[in-house]
Amino acid sequence: MTDLLRALKERLGEAGVLTAHADTDAYCHDWRGLYHGRARAVIRPADTASVADAVRLCAKHGAQLVPQGGNTSMVGGASVRDDSSEIILSLARMNRVRAIDPIDMTLSVEAGVILKTAQEAAAAAGCLLPLSISAEGSAQIGGILATNAGGNNTVRYGNARELVLGIEAVLPDGSVLSAMRRLRKDNTGYSLRHLLVGSEGTLGIITAAVLQLAPQPRTIEVALCAVPSPESALTLFTRMRGQDPSAIQAFEYMSGISMGLVTQYIEGATLPLERAAPHYVLIELATARDNANLRTLLESVLAEALEDGCALDAVIAESGAQRAALWKLREEHSEAQKRAGGNVKNDVSVPLSQVPALIARASDACATLIPGIRIAPFGHLGDGNIHFNLIQPEAMARDDFLAREHDIMETVAAIVRDLDGSFSAEHGIGRLKTDMMQTWRGGAELQSMRRIRQAIDPDGLFNPGKLF
Ligand code: FAD
Ligand code: MLT
Ligand code: ZN
Repeated sequence: MTDLLRALKERLGEAGVLTAHADTDAYCHDWRGLYHGRARAVIRPADTASVADAVRLCAKHGAQLVPQGGNTSMVGGASVRDDSSEIILSLARMNRVRAIDPIDMTLSVEAGVILKTAQEAAAAAGCLLPLSISAEGSAQIGGILATNAGGNNTVRYGNARELVLGIEAVLPDGSVLSAMRRLRKDNTGYSLRHLLVGSEGTLGIITAAVLQLAPQPRTIEVALCAVPSPESALTLFTRMRGQDPSAIQAFEYMSGISMGLVTQYIEGATLPLERAAPHYVLIELATARDNANLRTLLESVLAEALEDGCALDAVIAESGAQRAALWKLREEHSEAQKRAGGNVKNDVSVPLSQVPALIARASDACATLIPGIRIAPFGHLGDGNIHFNLIQPEAMARDDFLAREHDIMETVAAIVRDLDGSFSAEHGIGRLKTDMMQTWRGGAELQSMRRIRQAIDPDGLFNPGKLF
């Protein structure tokens, strides 16, 4: 055993340092199955002081660290190389809810708390943690913040960034940045918490955070609506927004092809409409107000849409179980696409008005590029973020399709650029999109990012090869 591993074991205990391949292997493969590496060790500190000591020891020995939360990154953000040189620092044991305050409406949690656990802690105190993603049963608060995750509620509450009031993190020199403040106003120099949010493990290891909560909704209405086109989906959104923007909790788009994969591959997922449609939206309205008649609002907007052809069919959930069943039809798209074969993801955003053009133009371009390709977009329509995902043609070999990943991503990216969009809306850059940073964020923007990284991590110890 090397001096470093011996020192880490002395400091973190046997349970805190995994070195056997059988123990480390599960940490070395990403959710999408794109990256398969091998780690020198997986370390699992249980508190902030242990993270700081472990980072100091690694810095002393020049060992590079990859912070890892739930390992649900869509861009290989928490993956390691296959040369057994990097050490994974897992936050899984730092899973305590430190405090919750229903007057301040704040939740203080350690980085390894799973998002669903944090949501449940907030709910038990009569509050809502307004962050919801399909990976919430595995993704951890630290990973969510490090990627500035978005998800289903961004349309109303913003991304993870908007919910962070305070942060605690260990920097590459082992010092602890302790800013667990729970203030709504705090103009005291550079906002370092916002620098750490979205830094993808390159600037600091987030060990805890203070999150802003919201009032728990008293009324929730969920509807699934079949629509003839992306234009109609957008019209439905703007009509709903025109009536009561504050009520829209989620407004999700799903293509008919992607929905077809969900009903084909996911057990218990059935379409509660008479027939399949080319496009769907899932609408969630919610309010903390008493007697806010959301049902009337929803019914009137849907009735108008059914009348003028903007909607083809619609169903409104009548119970909590039905709401969950409708949400299942949205939450399982990634899993269904994974089961359907090789897939290429384009997590892109465009101005809301351009969403129909994006879907039309990118669909045509991809169909021309690879005949038979299955065009399966879905996503967070309300904030202009579409997951323009493509599945291999049924008759094509998986590897042949994946070999075209670059072509496909470039084809979609060219259209996104033309529509003034972004090549990464919410999943981040990780390892998958580093080459795109140069063309999309070159010049002073990328140069400034490099300087910040160099200043904070001059020896390149944290998450090498990620971001840029
Ligand atoms: P990991 O995957 O472990 O890590 C992600 C990145 O953060 C890596 O760069 C890692 O090094 C870094 N990191 C992890 N923990 C820390 C820490 N404590 N300190 C510093 N850096 C750290 N994303 C969305 O935005 N919206 C969605 O709707 C969404 N849906 C998803 C659905 C599915 C089924 C899946 C599999 C993923 C989805 N994602 C979504 C991707 C998303 O990025 C993650 O789910 C989540 O943000 C990552 O959390 P994690 O704990 O798994 O982080
Ligand atoms: C989701 O919103 O479900 C994920 O971010 C999408 C994906 O699989 O691309
Ligand atoms: Zn998403």
